[in-house]
Amino acid sequence: MARTFFVGGNWKCNGTKDSIATLCSTWKESGAGVAGGPVEVVIAPPSVYAVSAAASLPDGYQVSLQNTWTGKGGAFTGELSAEMAKDCGINWVILGHSERRHIPTIAESDETVATKVAYALGAGLKVIACIGEQLEEREAGNTNAVNERQLAAIAAKVTDWTNVVIAYEPVWAIGTGKVATPDQAQEVHAALRAWLSANVSPSVASSVRILYGGSVSAKNCNELAGKEDVDGFLVGGASLKPEFTAIVDSHK
Ligand code: G3H
Repeated sequence: MARTFFVGGNWKCNGTKDSIATLCSTWKESGAGVAGGPVEVVIAPPSVYAVSAAASLPDGYQVSLQNTWTGKGGAFTGELSAEMAKDCGINWVILGHSERRHIPTIAESDETVATKVAYALGAGLKVIACIGEQLEEREAGNTNAVNERQLAAIAAKVTDWTNVVIAYEPVWAIGTGKVATPDQAQEVHAALRAWLSANVSPSVASSVRILYGGSVSAKNCNELAGKEDVDGFLVGGASLKPEFTAIVDSHK
């Protein structure tokens, strides 16, 4: 099944009104824009900038939050609900990012991530669900086991995968400049697709998009994009730079 190429930009906790305006106009001047194109682009600004950024981004770029709460809103100081995102015209959320799993003061468990994914989907959001192993887990030969455990927790709570995109982000590659080789990425993506086929369904396995994330740049994106099971990217640092539009174009 043909899978539409997908490029996410995760701005994390970066940006100002001025830097966002400058970045968006640089992207527009470079001719970026994907309305009706063969690639889907979703940018996740810090939440306070999400609505204003949506108005400044190139034509066809969509907007995402970087996190939502496990359930409906209420007395949860500092949280944002999936319903609030929808109310503001934001249709995507990134959940389970490694920084939310592994920063000790956040420490989201597999179970929490899965609960958030299921709730967000039920509220009508589309979800970029992140998984990925840490360096010591890879070195111990546990890469597939860790990724499958994180994916299984999500699969236990998700019945409809139409609005789910999986982002495989090896933690050792995030923000380090140490990108996975195209073969390393392909190997894990293929294993994830095989796991989905065996444990969810062959049709979900062939239709769900699996992104690679971790030190993706304009220099390395084309080779990674050429791999059969790499359906796009979740980009951090390079999504704050003019070069991001080259990554968007890497599907060509
Ligand atoms: O969400 C994005 C990932 O954490 C990748 O970040 O491109 O800066 O390595 P990076």
